[in-house]
Amino acid sequence: MKNTFKTIHSLHQSAEGSIVELRGWVAGRRDSKGLCFVVFRDGSGYCQCVFSKEQLGEELFEQTKSFSLESSLIVRGSLHFDERQEGGKEIQVQSFEIISVSEEYPISKKAHGTDFLLSQRHLWLRSKRQWAIMQIRNATVFAIHKFFQEREFVQMDAPILSSNAAENSTELFATEYFDRSAFLSQSGQLYGEAMAMAQGKIYTFGPTFRAEKSKTRRHLTEFWMMEPEMAFYDLDMNMDLIEEMLRYIVNDVMDRCPEAFQVLGRNLEALQSVNQIFPRIPYDLAVQILRSEVDVNGITAKSYLEGEIKKEVARQKEVMLEIEERELAANDMNSKKGVRNFNRNKADSLKNDLKQIEENLRNYPKWLDSASNFSHGEDFGGSDETVLTMLYGCPIMVYRWPKAIKAFYMKVDPDYPDYAKGVDVLAPEGYGEIVGGGERETDIDYLLEQIERHDLPQNAYQWYLDLRRYGNVPHSGFGLGLERLLCWICKLEHIREAIPFPRTSQRLEP
Ligand code: 4AD
Ligand code: MG
Repeated sequence: MKNTFKTIHSLHQSAEGSIVELRGWVAGRRDSKGLCFVVFRDGSGYCQCVFSKEQLGEELFEQTKSFSLESSLIVRGSLHFDERQEGGKEIQVQSFEIISVSEEYPISKKAHGTDFLLSQRHLWLRSKRQWAIMQIRNATVFAIHKFFQEREFVQMDAPILSSNAAENSTELFATEYFDRSAFLSQSGQLYGEAMAMAQGKIYTFGPTFRAEKSKTRRHLTEFWMMEPEMAFYDLDMNMDLIEEMLRYIVNDVMDRCPEAFQVLGRNLEALQSVNQIFPRIPYDLAVQILRSEVDVNGITAKSYLEGEIKKEVARQKEVMLEIEERELAANDMNSKKGVRNFNRNKADSLKNDLKQIEENLRNYPKWLDSASNFSHGEDFGGSDETVLTMLYGCPIMVYRWPKAIKAFYMKVDPDYPDYAKGVDVLAPEGYGEIVGGGERETDIDYLLEQIERHDLPQNAYQWYLDLRRYGNVPHSGFGLGLERLLCWICKLEHIREAIPFPRTSQRLEP
């Protein structure tokens, strides 16, 4: 079979009026006298196809009646550019072939519950919003590779099956490995360190696994992590690289995916914040900010959240009033149907806003309470991260962490012996940690001590300790959680939408 068809995305290269062939699926249809308007999708984009009785003749036009949702078709017709149409173009169909008429499609326009949609994930992926998220995921992965390849990093792969833990040994998935047991990788870092000693600057990009029981919006049990590791880099150089990388990725993705962002209704202004300098905040200062002992540009966490609560209360009143007005208008039988529908839709969307406001009003006092009582030496909870980033409105880097709460391999800060040279990047808009990394300890005796303190089997780490025995050098690296980054870029409510087939403690299917 010769490739004669074009993709919807590439149509902008064809001339107005030219005859094109598309192959894809019916994503929506609307009928009017002698006309059938189909929203056609082929994976590369969406465009309107107009089937008219006048053009096709009675017999062929009759077949359009069988176009159920997700039926597959080949269409041929003339291309016309029209700003008002889906994707800015329209096909006046001259001939078509039905490949398969779809059975009644389980996903309709009506609102489905998330649990149902997740059980239909193999089909849900075809929905426009999911399509847009996956387009952005693809562009993000491509941008990551471009960034590192342009900077002489070598991409290398760490094993997935391993006999030792890389991070927290309580979150390991164990599996049978012939007559012994093995673990699924939590991070490629330790192998990354070995590879960096061979190639200088490397990055791994692969699936990682955490037996994370907690049901949060931020945790998957299987997620993709990109982990660079650089010989002769200290923590400052590491932080410079992270900042440059995030700025590059987010700008590149904004450039390449305008249509997808439009589908998501994503406000790009929030993403432009990557072009500011990321504030670098030592953990101790972050704790003082949380407790409102120190302000950020004249505003404390307490005054900020109290201000937000006031704003939300005022907004709640306004929205409730407007819902009342819109509902009256929606039920006014003296006005036109179009006007009533418009008001009905407006009222429904305002009710969603109201739900969000009410949730904020429940959350803010709790967050304020938790932040005010934060106890030094602990790790930040999700709401603490949110409160911190609210005060800045751009990504921030929290560094120099109490070593007791960080992994065994983190380098102790010689100037602050109770602290480790780790860094977390927190994304704004409530998203929190997207990157974790730091400088690696080079002192073999300290590492041995830490392996013991963390109750790790020393034997399994002998190869890792060899990196300190032979050609030991300062080095650093970090891990970027792909789905965490996507949550922020796409402004997702839940991380499960950021990966084609999410795995959580609750879900292994489809
Ligand atoms: O902070 P983490 O645990 O760091 C490491 O694994 C280091 N070994 C990385 C390194 O230095 N090479 O994880 C790194 C990132 C987090 O910042 C977060 O973005 C993501 O991985 N992440 C998760 N994403 C989704 N679901 C989970 N359960 C995640 N746990 C971590
Ligand atoms: Mg972390």
